[in-house]
Amino acid sequence: MSNVLHCRQLTKSYFQGKAAIETKVLHSLDLTVKSGELLAIVGSSGCGKSTFLHIAGALDSPTEGEVWINDINIHKLTDKERAHFRNQHIGFIYQFHHLMMEFSAEENVAMPLLIKGTAPKIALKEAQEMLSQVGLSHRFEHRPGELSGGERQRVAIARALVTKPSLVLADEPTGNLDFDTAEQIYQLLRELNKTVNTSFVIVTHDLTLAAKMDRQLRLDHGQLKPMDNRTVETLVDKSAEPVVKPIEKSEKSYV
Ligand SMILES: Nc1ncnc2c1ncn2[C@@H]1O[C@H](COP(=O)(O)OP(=O)(O)O)[C@@H](O)[C@H]1O
Ligand SMILES: [Mg+2]
Repeated sequence: MSNVLHCRQLTKSYFQGKAAIETKVLHSLDLTVKSGELLAIVGSSGCGKSTFLHIAGALDSPTEGEVWINDINIHKLTDKERAHFRNQHIGFIYQFHHLMMEFSAEENVAMPLLIKGTAPKIALKEAQEMLSQVGLSHRFEHRPGELSGGERQRVAIARALVTKPSLVLADEPTGNLDFDTAEQIYQLLRELNKTVNTSFVIVTHDLTLAAKMDRQLRLDHGQLKPMDNRTVETLVDKSAEPVVKPIEKSEKSYV
């Protein structure tokens, strides 16, 4: 199996104030994600999860180290090449949805396809299909301001998945969702993983979701460390899980 993501000796420091006081967030972090793998990353608030994801997704640069995606060293690309690469290969689900408020749900989701050069009619159709898959078939023309927090998050998820990228990086994707909706999103990720071999790196506080991934790592003191499976299982209260339901396409509003 080939690798979709390879991070080598990543270090990230922020420098504050006139004295340029250093905050070292990542320290020589190494990570390899195999093609088709589902990886969960957990860690306490402020430990650097978002920082790591932004660097892995080419949204920010490391102080030192390399990020390879599909055998391309992404921080060696020019800004233009990197933007193109992101559009072709990476789906990013932000911690806060970052939707364009003046555009409808279907326009927001169609945007990555339009940037890719897909014809508008086809882009809109594919956006609608993806929105239906996240249970929003009744919200195509709503703007983000007319949606609930959970619905906005689902639009953001649909936007990240619509291009069927080889790697999806997700920052707390189920943070605003109730248990049933989070379960539906998980089913969607699994399906995409099965049908187009998409790999997922998911930062989450949701231990139920983390436990369902192929592998779990903990970000601790700037490095990714293995998490013993038994630790994950003990942390998750299995009795709280409802029966797994398929993704609904009904008119029901979830959140
Ligand atoms: N742009 C920035 N400038 C300075 N410090 C930052 C910046 N972004 C994040 N940090 C600091 O880096 C640490 C990790 O932040 P973050 O990656 O957002 O953590 P997490 O996502 O795990 O909660 C925090 O201590 C935060 O204050
Ligand atoms: Mg964060």
